[in-house]
Amino acid sequence: MATSSILSAVTRRLEGKVAVITGGASGIGACTAKVFAKQGAKVVIADIQDELGHSVVESIGKSNSSYVHCDITNESHVKNVIDQAVATHGKLDIMFNNAGIGGENKPRIVDNGKDNFERVLKINVTGVFLGIKHAARVMIPARSGSIISNASAASGISGVAPHAYTCSKHAVVGLTKNTAVELGQFGIRVNCLSPYAVATPATNEYSGMGDEGFENFVNSIANLKGVTLKPEDVANSALYLASDEAKYVSGHNLFVDGGFTIVNPSFGMFKYTDS
Ligand SMILES: NC(=O)c1ccc[n+]([C@@H]2O[C@H](COP(=O)([O-])OP(=O)(O)OC[C@H]3O[C@@H](n4cnc5c(N)ncnc54)[C@H](O)[C@@H]3O)[C@@H](O)[C@H]2O)c1
Repeated sequence: MATSSILSAVTRRLEGKVAVITGGASGIGACTAKVFAKQGAKVVIADIQDELGHSVVESIGKSNSSYVHCDITNESHVKNVIDQAVATHGKLDIMFNNAGIGGENKPRIVDNGKDNFERVLKINVTGVFLGIKHAARVMIPARSGSIISNASAASGISGVAPHAYTCSKHAVVGLTKNTAVELGQFGIRVNCLSPYAVATPATNEYSGMGDEGFENFVNSIANLKGVTLKPEDVANSALYLASDEAKYVSGHNLFVDGGFTIVNPSFGMFKYTDS
């Protein structure tokens, strides 16, 4: 083995760990599956887009990844994916509840249908609840584990997403904190991530701007300039929370937003001009 391969094997941050990633067939989830596998984890991808899910497994390699069809709103599906991960790999170290939807892009509440509202909450909240519940079921006897859920910058700031989505992501934070308190006694850490806007198939469908148009738009209103948030940046934040480097981090909502949610830009206090 070359020296560089030996070094990378020694320093891989998830060596020997087993992870389930919901929504791992696309966007942030697919990218995280690749990052986790590269860092030594065995990754189980859970999604409803079977063809895409299998293609992610092909690109990672079948020795360290697999795909399981799982609708996260169906409890027996969620139970099954967790049980399959444990049956195949002997344990579950990391649960990334990443799957989620934006729902209809209708800004006015009077135009918002009850069906859409309930669908968004069912996937974004009930799906996360089921993921945490069934991960906890197998992590409690093991007295360890890291559960991460994907919230959103919309969990910390209002007026940037439709009502159902904003509501659902606030709920993910509440569920994260409550379960972090309950599960701390078993050595299980529970955290969530809150990314700013990232170009993915979801944002393409939602905005209709294409990746480049979407990135130009979100960069123009971002707080942090000169960089574009990419799926890899969110995956790397999930990697941190999943790894032992975050061994004392629990109950946290990690904003990956370049400061977007902490500023009210209308005041313009620190605005530089080229004078
Ligand atoms: N892209 C962004 O700008 C952004 C910003 C903040 C937070 N997020 C969150 O990140 C997560 C991933 O978003 P993305 O942009 O990668 O979207 P995406 O559409 O590219 O990926 C989401 C995946 O979830 C899967 N999924 C949807 N419903 C499911 C269900 N019922 N059961 C199982 N899988 C299901 C989809 O099939 C898809 O593969 C979501 O929770 C989203 O809210 C995204």
